[in-house]
Amino acid sequence: MLLSLPEKEKFAPDPSFKLDTFKRREIWGNLNPLVIEIGSGQGEQVEWAASRFKNLDFLALEVFPQGVAHSVRRLHSKGIENARILQADAFHFFLSNLLSNSVFEVWTFFPDPWPKTKHHKRRLISEDFAPLVASALVPGGHWRIATDDNDYALQIHEVLDAFPGLENMGNLPMELPLKHFGKGNRDLQASAPKGKFFQIERFEDRTLTSFEKKGMEAGRKIYDFDYMKI
Ligand SMILES: C[S@@+](CC[C@H](N)C(=O)[O-])C[C@H]1O[C@@H](n2cnc3c(N)ncnc32)[C@H](O)[C@@H]1O
Repeated sequence: MLLSLPEKEKFAPDPSFKLDTFKRREIWGNLNPLVIEIGSGQGEQVEWAASRFKNLDFLALEVFPQGVAHSVRRLHSKGIENARILQADAFHFFLSNLLSNSVFEVWTFFPDPWPKTKHHKRRLISEDFAPLVASALVPGGHWRIATDDNDYALQIHEVLDAFPGLENMGNLPMELPLKHFGKGNRDLQASAPKGKFFQIERFEDRTLTSFEKKGMEAGRKIYDFDYMKI
């Protein structure tokens, strides 16, 4: 269940490791389509999906040690054999360890929102990360994303709608403030000019995690996105 790889530095597997077909067979015993979940948290989603879709292989990337430990126990106790947890930083893993056109789907559900303006640059879904995901996906592969942070939703649209290799599959119009706001000035969002964007229906294979539940209980709106590699 736990995938251990030699590391170059903390959470960065050695760049000489490539998840090629030889390694895929060694790790999963087959070459079924691969789904990578980024930031799998407590492992609720990977457990839910891997137990239902035996014809897919799953790799969950998570940096938080307790999340990794919890997820490994969870998969182990359910006897799930088609999923692996890797303690790795997704940016490094996509940069160095994946081959182009090798990943069926990428899931990023509730990436850390980094709400303070000075921390927005730490957000994972960025102009630097988008080309790495697009390269790893097979043509026609999907990058599915959810967030409960409307400022991050704006960032996702700004970055991914403008990225030439990805197509926004969304068909549900939504409005977002056209300007970024941080934790300190979010109350100004209501009066800011709005722009129209497109999101998508909730991904039917996304389970309700405790993280999402907390957001909903706090009254936050959930945004779902689906970007397809063209
Ligand atoms: C807000 S939590 C959401 C967890 C889970 N997806 C859910 O819906 O419950 C975000 C998770 O992403 C992980 N994370 C943040 N940056 C990451 C990165 N660069 N690579 C892998 N995991 C990351 C965090 O440790 C955290 O567990």
